[in-house]
Amino acid sequence: MDENPSVDYARPSIARVYDFFLGGDLNSEADRQVAEKILEAMPDLPDILRANRAFAVRAVRYLVEAGIRQFLDLGSGLATTGAAHEVVRDAGADARVLYVDNDPVVAAHNRLLAPGSNCAVLRADLRDTAEVLGSPQAADLFDFDQPIGVLMIAVLHFVPHADRPGDIVARYRDALAPGSCLALTHAENAERRPSTFQAARVYSKDVAEIHLRTRTEIAAFLDGWDLEAPGLVPAPDWHPDPATLVRPTVRQHGVAAVARKPLP
Ligand SMILES: C[S@@+](CC[C@H](N)C(=O)[O-])C[C@H]1O[C@@H](n2cnc3c(N)ncnc32)[C@H](O)[C@@H]1O
Repeated sequence: MDENPSVDYARPSIARVYDFFLGGDLNSEADRQVAEKILEAMPDLPDILRANRAFAVRAVRYLVEAGIRQFLDLGSGLATTGAAHEVVRDAGADARVLYVDNDPVVAAHNRLLAPGSNCAVLRADLRDTAEVLGSPQAADLFDFDQPIGVLMIAVLHFVPHADRPGDIVARYRDALAPGSCLALTHAENAERRPSTFQAARVYSKDVAEIHLRTRTEIAAFLDGWDLEAPGLVPAPDWHPDPATLVRPTVRQHGVAAVARKPLP
């Protein structure tokens, strides 16, 4: 990764540590060091994150097939392999994508990774729904009378309870046209494994506070949306790819769903 003097690469970032776990090279020495520490507690984390990313690809493809032609990717991370604009392009569809992330490095990189008139990049905090939805980028890219596919992939677990993540999801839902969809994944520790809590502690101390939630808590974020089949399930079980072998522990660390805003 090019060293940008205005960015503190000695401080690990969510997006770059995630990139390292996915096998990417957009990460720094500090990111790799903390990632290695987390891996000691949770060696199967890269498998879990690959399953998360694979769900995102299947969900975007599913939404494209359902006719969605505009995507709002909140907490997009680095738009590397499998990013929404690539999935859309590979599906042969003409769809627009707005990448939103509060990390300045992510925003800068995504301007390079996702060029073209069908993509835009916004550096913003997804909690500020008015800023995101009222941004010039959103105005240029979206027709708000048409459904939008909102992606909240592996990001809501960075929003603390005090910031009422359920209310944030509801504000996006209320602002968008009926038929809009939400694809969501969220970290959990279904078996309450001490090693997972330990990895989360290291992550929270060295990278960013992460909030593992129960399936009931995560399901509540989908109130007011109609769940598409098969509902809120472990990420590999959502429209599974039969060609992919999944280790059992991967199913215990994250759930996924696609839901639709009901027609009036
Ligand atoms: C684990 S990465 C997931 C990236 C991508 N969604 C995926 O699943 O492949 C989470 C991303 O969310 C971003 N993020 C965390 N909190 C955020 C917030 N409040 N607003 C916007 N972005 C946020 C981080 O900077 C990071 O890039």
